[in-house]
Amino acid sequence: MNDGDGTRAASDRERRFGPLGTALVIIPTYDEAENIKAIVGRVREAVPDAHVLVADDNSPDGTGKLADELAAEDDRVHVLHRKGKEGLGAAYLAGFRWGMEHDFGVLVEMDADGSHQPEELPRLLTALKGADLVLGSRWVPGGRVVNWPKSREVISRGGSLYSRLALDLPLRDITGGYRAFRRETLEGLGLAEVASQGYCFQVDLARRAVKAGYHVVEVPITFVERELGDSKMSRDILVEALWRVTSWGVGERVGKIMDRGRPAKPPGRTSGTS
Ligand code: GDD
Ligand code: MN
Repeated sequence: MNDGDGTRAASDRERRFGPLGTALVIIPTYDEAENIKAIVGRVREAVPDAHVLVADDNSPDGTGKLADELAAEDDRVHVLHRKGKEGLGAAYLAGFRWGMEHDFGVLVEMDADGSHQPEELPRLLTALKGADLVLGSRWVPGGRVVNWPKSREVISRGGSLYSRLALDLPLRDITGGYRAFRRETLEGLGLAEVASQGYCFQVDLARRAVKAGYHVVEVPITFVERELGDSKMSRDILVEALWRVTSWGVGERVGKIMDRGRPAKPPGRTSGTS
């Protein structure tokens, strides 16, 4: 599922994947007043064709109002005001829905704090020409993190390793939040059933994409820890991730064991419902 299969010619890929539509960069925000103007400006400069959607959870620090001011000056900047803090997952789901309703062909996830550098977005979009989903990855060769405390790196690497093993995923950075989806990919992930609220939302979507057979490619990124404002990572977010990943892993294993006990399908029949 990584880009390492090396068997398919690049031209086949382009033919199979089709052209990319206009990109919408979704930026979820909660108390990012110090960062919002800079990040929106950087996205608009790095990929001038792309639109930006700020998905703000009614930030007490007024991020939503600042985003409205940016939107008033630029018709490629949009704001989705949400009623309160409901987590990263819910904000992205609402952002995806908005983007699909407005006919965007590519939906991008990006943090507001500068950790995901907009200047790297063209590389992610180029990779998406030959993929269904591109993950910006800190943990493939060429990827790295700058200014992260060791403790955070251990949690993140551990989270990816645990997810990789528990869910049997051929991916290195499973919790990362810098990604580009084709809209068709999102349409095939069953977003209506996604219940993940916090950062495990990222694991949930990666898992769904691999299990659905999509071609997922990891592109190295340099993740730069924020200089302004605070991380929203919390104990609750970690606990949610741990229990959800564990229960998905157990569920998959039980499913496989149950399947083994069933009679094989008659030969020559293909499933019409996948
Ligand atoms: N709307 C909304 N609602 N936005 C939120 C919420 C929420 O409840 N919680 C966080 N955000 C926004 C932040 O404002 C920021 O733009 C982005 O989500 C990421 O939040 P951070 O708090 O900066 O995350 P981090 O730096 O600790 O974590 C990074 O690494 C995680 C683990 O690898 C992010 O890249 C995560 O996406 C990633 O899962
Ligand atoms: Mn951050």
